[in-house]
Amino acid sequence: MKFIHLSDLHLVGPGATLHGLDPQDRLRRCVAQIRRFHADAAFLLMTGDLTHGGEPDGYAAARAMLSALPMPLHVTIGNHDSRPAFRAAFPDAPVSEGGFVQEAFDTPAGRFVLLDTHEPGQAEGRLCDQRLAWLDRALHGGSGPVFLALHHPPFRVGLGRMDRIRLLDGEALLEVLRPHLGRLRHLFVGHLHRALAGSWHGIPFSGVRGTNHQIALDFVTQEVAPVSFEAAGYGVVLVSPEAVVAHLEELPLGTKTPAGDAFGNQVETILPA
Ligand SMILES: [Fe+2]
Repeated sequence: MKFIHLSDLHLVGPGATLHGLDPQDRLRRCVAQIRRFHADAAFLLMTGDLTHGGEPDGYAAARAMLSALPMPLHVTIGNHDSRPAFRAAFPDAPVSEGGFVQEAFDTPAGRFVLLDTHEPGQAEGRLCDQRLAWLDRALHGGSGPVFLALHHPPFRVGLGRMDRIRLLDGEALLEVLRPHLGRLRHLFVGHLHRALAGSWHGIPFSGVRGTNHQIALDFVTQEVAPVSFEAAGYGVVLVSPEAVVAHLEELPLGTKTPAGDAFGNQVETILPA
């Protein structure tokens, strides 16, 4: 089974820029590449931050572009999203009791569980008792392999600002997962705007780049998340009984090098001119 892991689109209004880049144009190119090379993917897994600030026309653009792909979309949201604006634009998207943008669905490879870690007004991720109880039920609904997806990683990755805005309820999440550790095949995260892989309490994980800007691999800066302009990317994941293989497909999108970003963050240019 093959599927696409897409994350962190950060769409703004049509023609508007973010960090000097056009998020809608960047996503359009990624979607064209997915359509060209991965039309056979079973589904697209979206791990949040569809928009940069909950913009309704950003969601409308996301819906228009992603619904043009031939595979079904499974989505949860991130800290940059707005739960009401997402639900208005994606009224058919499954939600759990309480209106959380999370779902569990079964595939031939096992059960996929998407968790909503969005907390309104906060950059960090949270999981309340209601969401954890839903997860507990979703995990008890079967005995086969489980794949988990959420926006905020429940672990530190060595990047100061991102570590402080990780999922702060990682311990509570682990307690719900603990009886199922032997079934958990992989954890897919967003939020970091970086391709990375490792394991957390024995659970393999991977994260992907965003489709607009990235976050620099900067272990020194603490107060902000330094933006970088590495190529956009998304995951192409292959699942077999023997292995989960998480490729990152890059999309070189030119060498645009903005002089500064609108939020006062440091801006580093990593791609050569
Ligand atoms: Fe993001």
